[in-house]
Amino acid sequence: MGLVPMADILEKANDEYYAVGGFNINNMEFLQGIIWAAEETNSPLILQASEGAIKYIGMDYVINMVKAAVRDTHIPVALHLDHGSSYEVIMRCIREGFSSVMYDGSKYPFKQNIRLTKEVVKAAHSVGVTVEAELGKIGGTEDDVDVDEKDAKFTKPEEAEEFVEKTGVDALAIAIGTAHGVYKGDPELDFDRLEKINSSLNMPLVLHGASGVPDEDVRKAVSMGINKVNVNTAFQQAFTAKIKELFDKDPELYDPRKYCGPARDAISEAVKEKIEILGSKNRA
Ligand code: 13P
Repeated sequence: MGLVPMADILEKANDEYYAVGGFNINNMEFLQGIIWAAEETNSPLILQASEGAIKYIGMDYVINMVKAAVRDTHIPVALHLDHGSSYEVIMRCIREGFSSVMYDGSKYPFKQNIRLTKEVVKAAHSVGVTVEAELGKIGGTEDDVDVDEKDAKFTKPEEAEEFVEKTGVDALAIAIGTAHGVYKGDPELDFDRLEKINSSLNMPLVLHGASGVPDEDVRKAVSMGINKVNVNTAFQQAFTAKIKELFDKDPELYDPRKYCGPARDAISEAVKEKIEILGSKNRA
């Protein structure tokens, strides 16, 4: 089928009140485990790569592995840059064939975030590529980016409307109490804030840091207007737990296929569970 713009996937999700997973790829096993699960459940899919993952895997490998993965697929798949930090990185991803990019200007003051995001939107939209932006600041750790709890900032509903109107973004990542990485306790989501943001913006909203958020809270957020849910850590944990389990049973294991294969299956199982929760099953 080839890659599709993320906007097409999210527009349908927004119209029909479900969410699609923005699932991070860290290596080939992640890519296969994720796409096989989405195909089996007949779900649309957003494969995303962070700058750290692109550095680790290599841009050529990311693009060509994903192209191989989608060549014969029957489900709509977007390839999305997660947390793009600069115009240059974003332009490179667009040139290489990403169908969607996130520009994360959340570390800048409001007006500067608007100005920088707008430049990205102009360039991306001219070639049919979708743009996600972030307003407020999501805490936690992802790759080398560490946002201390005290620096995390919730999205202000009154700013969200102005931000979207001035930038023209297709999807907005909002900060309502989630964080990237492993939580110390259960996160507390600010559903009132979500309701306010969603009532003023009829557009796809994105929940980052969904690993470790209780399933009922994810379901509730989806029912209140979240259309893209990002998960990375939970699948990393599933992958690593399976490898640990196998080495505990047999410390002499040496063939990577004997532990990476089952770990890939563990990712698939975890992805299928998330797809059920998000409601994207049979929406391809
Ligand atoms: P987690 O790693 O906490 O699941 O967050 C993923 C994410 O939001 C990617 O942008």
